[in-house]
Amino acid sequence: MKSLAVLHASQLVTLGGPKRPRVGTEMRELAIIRDGGMLIRDGKIRSVAPSDQIEKNANNAEIIDAEGRIALPGFVDAHTHLVFAGNRLEDFERRARGESYEQIAKAGGGIWSTVEKTRAASDADLLKRAKIHADWFLKCGTTTVEAKSGYGLTLEGELKILCVMRQLNEKTSLEIVPTFLGAHAVPREMDADQYIELVIEEMLPRIASEKLAEFCDVFCERGYFDVEQSRRILTAARQLGLKLRIHADQLTNSGGAQLAAELKATTADHLEKTDGQGIAAMKSAGVQPVLLPGSVYALGLPDYPRAREMVAAGLAIVIATDFNPGSSPTPSMTMILSLACTQMKLSPAEAITAGTINAAYSLNRGSKIGSLEPGKFANFSIFNCEDYRELAYWFGIPQTHSVYVRGERVG
Ligand code: NIG
Ligand code: FE
Repeated sequence: MKSLAVLHASQLVTLGGPKRPRVGTEMRELAIIRDGGMLIRDGKIRSVAPSDQIEKNANNAEIIDAEGRIALPGFVDAHTHLVFAGNRLEDFERRARGESYEQIAKAGGGIWSTVEKTRAASDADLLKRAKIHADWFLKCGTTTVEAKSGYGLTLEGELKILCVMRQLNEKTSLEIVPTFLGAHAVPREMDADQYIELVIEEMLPRIASEKLAEFCDVFCERGYFDVEQSRRILTAARQLGLKLRIHADQLTNSGGAQLAAELKATTADHLEKTDGQGIAAMKSAGVQPVLLPGSVYALGLPDYPRAREMVAAGLAIVIATDFNPGSSPTPSMTMILSLACTQMKLSPAEAITAGTINAAYSLNRGSKIGSLEPGKFANFSIFNCEDYRELAYWFGIPQTHSVYVRGERVG
């Protein structure tokens, strides 16, 4: 039995609290232990308490002295597009010249250009690249990510990406939660109806039977999949036992949040254009909003989602990076904390709640990760600062000191 004792965290940010996602004023309660410590046995948390108490019970445990730094749960990034080939530097320059995401997509850039590169890449190359991305996440203090397929858009192409995720899960300490996003765009070689048929009749049954994904997602957006098409795909997915997430109302208010509510999706993601009705619908159906300020920032768009209204409505909001080569090329949850506070007016505490415990619940893992509480996995990071608010305050500088997954140092 391997034991570890973390001692002298200036703030042990535990996020201990009710065993459910946090809402309203609960989002500001981080359950901080000053000069905190934590006893870990066999990769799981045994106890959290003031350092002197932990020290008394440490016996032969290996000591990790945080030396007055903060410690908090590993970030849980509930929306990423982790597996892809190449980059989108051309799109990036075009946007700097003033072209929009939609214009660039129509002109041959956008998601389609990443699909071409990803289709052409070998499994080994994709895996190698994905491993680099996984290392970036760990370096930033993220220990669990949700990851979407969606750059294959053929049966083989989508299976290739999901299999890379499965292999990657064996090769990295980062935990990867797979989502099938076959409906990310309509491929050039067929029309929308033919493609939706392929998704429903061939892709979904195969992915469900091989247990390659826990969730199914759809890009519900003008020019991609409309509400009716999204409903068909998501309903089929639900019948096969997959849980649902939806890219909703990112560029237009297309009724995505209402659809998420109607289908009792686990999450509705983006929501930049969602209005009060969409917020009310998500509330009554218990949908968790996943807000992605990195994509608004990187696309240079003016409108961030209405996070304050969502908190006021009692929604258990989540924040995530949306890591992808096009609209949000960042793996950094601390960058997202910064944007959440400066652009969406969350407090640092609310943002941390949204990026840890609430995110863990949105991935069906609220009882295992997302807070530092007895019985949970010892997934945590130590940062080079004394006050948790510094994580959102300083930006553009990495503050990670060390990262642990199940009690093992991984970064
Ligand atoms: O969440 N909106 C659709 N999907 C991604 C973008 C993917 C891409 O541009 O490659 C997003 O922003
Ligand atoms: Fe996305």
